[in-house]
This record gives sequence, structure tokens and C-alpha cells, in this order.
Amino acid sequence: MEIKLFCPATIANLSCGFDVLGLCLDNAGDEMIVRKVAQKGVRITKIEGADLPLETEKNVAGVAALAMLETLDVDCGFEIEIYKHIKAGSGIGSSAASSAGAVFGINELLGQPYSRKELVQFAMQGEKLASGNAHADNVAPALLGGFTLVRSYSPLDIIRIDSPEELFATVVHPQIELKTSDARSVLKQTVSLKSAIMQWGNVGGLVAGLYTKDYDLIGRSLHDEIVEPLRSVLIPGFDLIKQTALENGALGSGISGSGPSIFALSKGKNTADQIAKAMSEVYEKMNLPYEIHVSKIN
Ligand code: HSE
Repeated sequence: MEIKLFCPATIANLSCGFDVLGLCLDNAGDEMIVRKVAQKGVRITKIEGADLPLETEKNVAGVAALAMLETLDVDCGFEIEIYKHIKAGSGIGSSAASSAGAVFGINELLGQPYSRKELVQFAMQGEKLASGNAHADNVAPALLGGFTLVRSYSPLDIIRIDSPEELFATVVHPQIELKTSDARSVLKQTVSLKSAIMQWGNVGGLVAGLYTKDYDLIGRSLHDEIVEPLRSVLIPGFDLIKQTALENGALGSGISGSGPSIFALSKGKNTADQIAKAMSEVYEKMNLPYEIHVSKIN
């Protein structure tokens, strides 16, 4: 018995929500086949599209699957085939797509012993292997869809947030690799009370704006006082891309996950397409290779 999966790309942080907010894209992602077999254990049998380890313990999908199976008494095993389309170190949740896909697929093949929310704790182990930190802001939206909030890590408390129908994301990926572990190493471990007040005001505003479908409030809240100033210097053309997105009608723009991808949110597909065109022109003028996606939030 096997299951074929689409493992979606995700945007974590969403400016103000470092490590707690994320959203799921509807048309960018990997594919994966998870197969139930008689031989116990987890084997990664095929990886296409990326140079990643086949050893189960060194592969994020393998580690997430093992973490899940440790909690269950099953007398079968699983084979996993991974077809990567999301580049590693792109900032749109490459490791999360594989980790989430593995646990989702196994859960389906076992008759859903866990809820999607419960699967997050296992997928996070893949994130820990990839970046040294078990953050859930990519795996939660990959598993639950839409917008998600990690209200708490200990105990883990994931909330799915309603969002307006017409919200679109434009994501541009300048073709450099930025490892999450490197992008985390530039961060400070403490923040000032003044910055924290601004940041939690914006997180509250963003969540309120999503629930009430208040696009202006969503836009006003897409601001990052703490992380973006430290990370944006690692991303070529960041300020110009962000300014271009805002001039072309974006509600807000910022670093996607740990970068180097840059996202913009907008109301309606036409605006999202217009932003994509304008962002492309910036990187073309800079002679910098890039990939761009326009996606509905799913
Ligand atoms: N919240 C994580 C970070 C997401 O920004 O480091 C990584 O994709």
C-alpha cells in the first residue's frame, strides 16, 4: 500500500512572528511517495532533485518518521521516495515539506492514529536535524494548511488561523543558498522591551486582521522590529525588492522564513502578479538569477 503526496512550501515568520507564524502555499512544493512494507524500519529509497542523504538518520524525512514510529507499536515498515522541487536553503520550508510529508504519509497509511496537529511534534524533529532548532512555524502550516500560530512550544500548542479568501503571496528566491543555522547565528538572544512591545502589537494586529479580513490591518502589522534588520543584510537587493513590492500594491513584504526568499502579501491575484513582474525586473537589472512564485494561501 502506498500514498503519493504533495508536500507544500511554506512561509515562516511573516515578519513579526519569528518562530510562531507561518502560512502554506498552494502551488509550490515537493512530491513524495510513502509505502507501507513488511520489513520493519524506515528506508529512504529514492531522492530526485536534490543531493540529500539517503541514510534514514541523516535525512529530515527519515528522522521525523522515526520519531513518530518510536511512539507506536507497529509490525510493518515504510519506504519513502522524495522528489524535491523546493531548493534547500531557499527560505520556503524545504526541510519542513519533507518532514511533514513523511509523518503525514505514514499517519495516513496507519489509519490516522494521530491528528494533524499531533503530527507537528514529530515533523519538528526533522527541522531540528536540518537547522539545529526544532521550530514548528514551517511544519505546522505544511501539515494544517492556511495560516498557523505556534502559541506555545512547551507545551506545544498550535492554532490554525482563519484568513481572507483573496490573500495571495508573491515569493522571490534569489538563487543563493542561505542555511537556516547561519541565518539564526546572526540573531541576538535578547530584545529590548521597546522592540518587544512593537513586535507583539504587530503579531496581535496581524492575527486580528486575518480573522476580521481587514487587509489594511494585515498590511500595517507586517513589520519586523527584531529579526529583519539583522538578517536582511544577508540578502542581495532586499531593501529594493521590498520597496518595489510596496510600491506595486503589496500589503506588506519581508523575509520568507530565514531567507533568502522575500515574500509579499497582497489582496487579489492581479496585484500579486504585478508585484512578481516588478520584483523580476529588479533582479534582472541586478543580473541576479531568481525564481518567483505567485500562490494563493491554501
Ligand atoms: N523561524 C525559522 C527561522 C524559520 O526564521 O529561523 C526557518 O525557515
